[in-house]
Amino acid sequence: MASASTQAAYKIIDHTYDTVVVGAGGSGLRATMGSAEAGLKTACITKVFPTRSHTVAAQGGIAASLGNNSPDHWTWHMYDTVKGSDWLGDQDAIEYMVREAPQAVYELEHAGVPFSRNADGTIYQRPFGGHMQNMGEGPPVQRTCAAADRTGHAMLHALYQQSLKYDADFFIEYFAIDLIMENGPDGVPVCRGVIAMCMDDGSIHRFRSHAVVLATGGYGRSYFTATSAHTCTGDGGGMVLRAGLPMQDMEFVQFHPTGIYGAGVLITEGARGEGGYLTNSEGERFMERYAPSAKDLASRDVVSRSMAMEIREGRGVGPHKDHIYLHLDHIDPKVLAERLPGITESGKIFAGVDLARQPLPVVPTVHYNMGGIPCNYHGEVVTIGADGNPETVVPGLFAVGEAACVSVHGANRLGSNSLIDLVVFGRATGHRLKELIKPGTAHNGLPKDSADLALGRLDHFRNAKGGSPTAEVRTEMQRTMSAHAAVFRTDELMAEGVTKLADTYKRMQDIHVSDRSLIWNSDLIETLELDNLISQASVTMSGAYARKESRGAHAHEDFPNRDDANWMKHTVGWFNGWGGKGGEVKLDYRPVHEFTLTDDVQYIKPKARVY
Ligand code: FUM
Repeated sequence: MASASTQAAYKIIDHTYDTVVVGAGGSGLRATMGSAEAGLKTACITKVFPTRSHTVAAQGGIAASLGNNSPDHWTWHMYDTVKGSDWLGDQDAIEYMVREAPQAVYELEHAGVPFSRNADGTIYQRPFGGHMQNMGEGPPVQRTCAAADRTGHAMLHALYQQSLKYDADFFIEYFAIDLIMENGPDGVPVCRGVIAMCMDDGSIHRFRSHAVVLATGGYGRSYFTATSAHTCTGDGGGMVLRAGLPMQDMEFVQFHPTGIYGAGVLITEGARGEGGYLTNSEGERFMERYAPSAKDLASRDVVSRSMAMEIREGRGVGPHKDHIYLHLDHIDPKVLAERLPGITESGKIFAGVDLARQPLPVVPTVHYNMGGIPCNYHGEVVTIGADGNPETVVPGLFAVGEAACVSVHGANRLGSNSLIDLVVFGRATGHRLKELIKPGTAHNGLPKDSADLALGRLDHFRNAKGGSPTAEVRTEMQRTMSAHAAVFRTDELMAEGVTKLADTYKRMQDIHVSDRSLIWNSDLIETLELDNLISQASVTMSGAYARKESRGAHAHEDFPNRDDANWMKHTVGWFNGWGGKGGEVKLDYRPVHEFTLTDDVQYIKPKARVY
């Protein structure tokens, strides 16, 4: 709790809104736009300028069964997504996403996204890994709608413009510190708003609202190398854990097959969609052995594991035999310039490679968190209630995008299903807010201690004088995650990882922040971010250690098979970590939804997953 002197040290500026969205990436902007369009007084708080949010890095495209470049059907998209998820995805939510996908893409088109075009003027669609025709039978389908290889960038601009059109208020370069929670009936907490700091002048802002939508992205920066921006510190997940709510399926961390070796920068899967292929030190197109049918366009977990196997068996390339080559040198330079200009530039800048002439050194790189804040397909955050109901809604709290776990991606996400997740569920959340909130509805008074948690933490870290600089503790955590929760995992490695992270968490009590000011104090902000990261890293490692099977991105060498009888269930994990607690992780499980949303499609039964 913040002491009276702490309270007095910070002036609080109060704001009242119907909806507050935290985060201005694709999902946050789509939810902001939907809420504002519904006539709700809407604020969007973001720590970076909206068009610099991490969605800007999404390259290859957005999946929807438009059928412009090859035959397609939403049931095929559903089948691929369920199979891609290794049967950990909730099929009602998946049905919702794939059915809404075409409409969501047309809305983007009308909002101004400059999609690449076919000769007949329709949106250009390219193949992406794991997306097939005919209920998985093949051949590959062209389902990924692309704006060259800058699709996320184009989407952010259109969505930001739309949000402004509907008069949403933006609080830019504000860092959300903690949620305002209140005890509700039946012991389920209710969200009443959020506390944020303006990074420019250090002023503290208390946002009272009927709904808070967490659109804060993933926590990729808990690893040493990631395609994720340095801002991907899972701030919403950190806030949720401190609010005593759980995270879901955190052990499933996606490694993108093609991060540039040494730099971690993303090279879109669209590169393989346009005909690129991988080779080992013998010049062999090894994916033909691992995935005879889909080859280089198998799903990401399969391709990343195959690359890791090649490296492990001594067939990696380079002086240390620790990476793989991606070839695009056989592709017409005109095609590269038109469809893959961004990665052509990245190849030059980050690897010194001319893609039209040389192969690019790549390696599987942390890219996406399948896990996140558990929620239903309306965006409402859910938890396990005191009565054991695993679908208990937390009133006033929503989550969308990578921050959320709906769960449509299960144990492994298909490429280009992330951008569609952002807009479909950002839009669904807007619809739900419209149903639940009447514009201008009066607000109850806030609890007396509404700012205590946020101010207590802020003041604690701002004045931290221990012996462990933030950067040192962060590196320790990142190295542990990279070594102990990587593409392949063993019981021994993960048990060690749990112990190491617990030790690193102890160092959080001894943290050292050297800048005490409130003006652009990046040392303080990075410490708050580290606090968010380490709680989620701990839940990830413990969830992974507990899961005694292999499924999707969780490749457990001691348990190499999927075990549906015992493990077709979602992990939920709590972290007991603020206010002098030791950082213990508690785990429980929720059932996977083994049902569809409508009778238009049948439940897709688990079977062996081969590509
Ligand atoms: O490869 C890519 O362009 C990334 C897309 C995604 O993660 O969906």
